[in-house]
Amino acid sequence: MKKERILVTGGTGYIGSHTVVELQNAGYDVVIIDNLSNSNIDVLDGIERITGIRPAFVEADCTDINSLRKLFEEYPGISGIINFAASKAVGESMQKPVLYYRNNLGTLLNLLDMMAEFNVKGIVFSSSCTVYGEPDVNPVTEAAPIKKATSPYGNTKQISEEIITDTINAGADFKSVILRYFNPVGAHPSAEIGELPNGVPQNLIPYVTQTAMGIRKELSVFGDDYNTPDGSCIRDYINVVDLAKAHVIAVERMLQDKSDKKIEIFNLGTGNGLSVLELINAFETATGVKVPHKIVGRRAGDIEKVWADPRYANEVLGWKAETPIEDTMRSAWNWQCRLRERGVM
Ligand code: UFG
Repeated sequence: MKKERILVTGGTGYIGSHTVVELQNAGYDVVIIDNLSNSNIDVLDGIERITGIRPAFVEADCTDINSLRKLFEEYPGISGIINFAASKAVGESMQKPVLYYRNNLGTLLNLLDMMAEFNVKGIVFSSSCTVYGEPDVNPVTEAAPIKKATSPYGNTKQISEEIITDTINAGADFKSVILRYFNPVGAHPSAEIGELPNGVPQNLIPYVTQTAMGIRKELSVFGDDYNTPDGSCIRDYINVVDLAKAHVIAVERMLQDKSDKKIEIFNLGTGNGLSVLELINAFETATGVKVPHKIVGRRAGDIEKVWADPRYANEVLGWKAETPIEDTMRSAWNWQCRLRERGVM
């Protein structure tokens, strides 16, 4: 028997698509809305090849309330929402702040309106460790202070968390789980879905895999003079499938009223910090493929070191990131190889 119907906004995107797979594997009836601004319709084929089920798909923009309302009428009984639909490039957000505020906040506001109108029970929101800025202490717990955002992108995550909190505190009849992701990486082990950035990748792993493939000549390591053991920045790289599974648990928790709290916040990370140089090394060891790289100057706005204390999620959600980094690196590489086989890049 099928479980509840879940609306996944941004469901053809990187984290969205992996979450759709896990939701369908868990028996949920998924409806995707995506404007395909940073993803491809072919992702639906990948999802279908993995799960045997083609999710319902609506091509529309969540900032368009009329399209959204039409979707809720066409697919009645949506019990929960997972909101991935957002613009996510830090650098671009500096150039186009209005676009970021409109997309990210407009989407959330529309969804909150629809939740009230159509009696949706809960929303899982994709937030980010970016809300902690440069943390005073690592690993970072959920109680760490929120630092002033250094980009409009980061600010949209902070404001979104506040919008959800204010709405629920004002008596809205639904729940929310806010998930603060650390650095999601890797791809589905089937290599049917993965990350496919537009143009030159800004994030480390797509740049690593494209360099390993020879698409990029050389990876630039942004700085080796940080206050870390090898001088390069430290992050908490979390496998995207592990991350996706946390969303299924969060949805279940909301829909089955497993918590008394109407709003909960969890850090999703591994608890292990890895430096840029350590990550390159892990990739080379896991795949046997070299990644030509050189040290260059620091990238403006980079955090020196941040990694999660995931114990709250481990204990309360009963969830743990367990994929070894080598497996994650192999999955990223296998995905890059699949893109080459398909002639995508
Ligand atoms: N890096 C390089 N070379 C590159 C790309 C990245 O050395 O070509 C380094 C960065 O300097 C950083 C690390 O690799 O030290 C990770 O960089 P990413 O761009 O992959 O990730 P960030 O930690 O900077 O940003 C990510 C998400 C953001 C989110 C942020 C904090 O991309 O959306 O985490 O949550 F805001």
